[in-house]
Amino acid sequence: MSDIQNVECITEGKTGVLVFKDKLTKKGPGSKNKVPFYNPTMELNRDLSILVNQWLVNNNEKTMHILDGLAASGIRGIRLANELEGDFDVTINDWSEDAYALIKKNLERCGLKNVVASNRNLNTLLSEERFHYIDVDPFGSPVYFIDSAIRGIYNNGIIACTATDTATLCGVYPKVCLRRYGVQSFHSPIMHEIGLRILLGFICREAAKYDKGIEPLVCYSTDHYFRAYIQVKNGISYANESVDNLKRINSKELFFSSKQTTEIGPLWLGKIQNKNIIEEVRTLLSGKQLNTKNILWGFLDLLEEEADASAFFYTTDDLASLLKISPPKMEYIFEKLKEKGYDASRTHFSPTGFKTNASRDEIETMFKHQK
Ligand SMILES: C[S@@+](CC[C@H](N)C(=O)[O-])C[C@H]1O[C@@H](n2cnc3c(N)ncnc32)[C@H](O)[C@@H]1O
Repeated sequence: MSDIQNVECITEGKTGVLVFKDKLTKKGPGSKNKVPFYNPTMELNRDLSILVNQWLVNNNEKTMHILDGLAASGIRGIRLANELEGDFDVTINDWSEDAYALIKKNLERCGLKNVVASNRNLNTLLSEERFHYIDVDPFGSPVYFIDSAIRGIYNNGIIACTATDTATLCGVYPKVCLRRYGVQSFHSPIMHEIGLRILLGFICREAAKYDKGIEPLVCYSTDHYFRAYIQVKNGISYANESVDNLKRINSKELFFSSKQTTEIGPLWLGKIQNKNIIEEVRTLLSGKQLNTKNILWGFLDLLEEEADASAFFYTTDDLASLLKISPPKMEYIFEKLKEKGYDASRTHFSPTGFKTNASRDEIETMFKHQK
């Protein structure tokens, strides 16, 4: 049993939570050795889950059963219990005895009524109980929990999962990706978008086994993790519609790799954001006390901007280096594309990235004629 005395209180949102004093402060995915683990760099990730859950509770008339499935200190679940308004309850689960002890201590301090601690293997719990929201926030890959989450989610419920096996999803370890996700990955300037689409494709296939379809609501990649909020819809027609979004692509189709001919996939090539829901989630920001409020505002804005854009993007620096010219300013690209009537949007995947329906030839001409 951990020394439950060796803790300090940190505050996220409007909730004080006890975490162990040796908590990590560096950026990164974290390590399995720190149990119960707390990663301060995941605050934005947790803040967004407050907003998505508030949206879920606001849009349902019955009691929403919410599960923080891999809870560690319990910070996400305790925050959800304390910071959401409306009709809901929260189960906070972790199989570690140390984590369970800390979660219970945190719950005693908070005095919240609508929340329980649980000390089970998440896969067992999800074989026996169902929830409207399931949060899967593992060390590394979420693949080991997706099958159970699909079985344990109510119709139209939301599964939120984090993946910190970024290198694998980004094509650094193709064999691992093939084993883990059943997908041929690809290391390239657009690896973060491919990685996210690998993850979504995997979840889609896991759901389809049970005649369920998926709708990605808010999905993104950051420097050290991927995160996906996915609504699950029961029924063969939803499952069929979803699998229609699974495709393989050839690297020849991607702008930077004319010589390579690798088959990539299967990838989810459907939408990765729901624009309306992003707008609604963003309006909830003003009613919440969140430390990352300003960053989240800009971030949701960016996700909304690219919500309707096609898959994959160009980057000014990679294209310029292929053409052996200096990269044009982003403003120049947007001005020219819009002048010619093309769609153009920024992308959260890269600060020098842009999405457009203009042809490669049109884009090259713009690059070559920049002033
Ligand atoms: C990355 S930590 C969770 C961090 C937490 N969600 C947060 O926001 O701070 C992953 C946790 O999953 C727990 N875990 C791993 N496998 C599990 C399983 N099969 N069932 C339940 N808990 C598990 C570990 O004990 C660990 O505390």
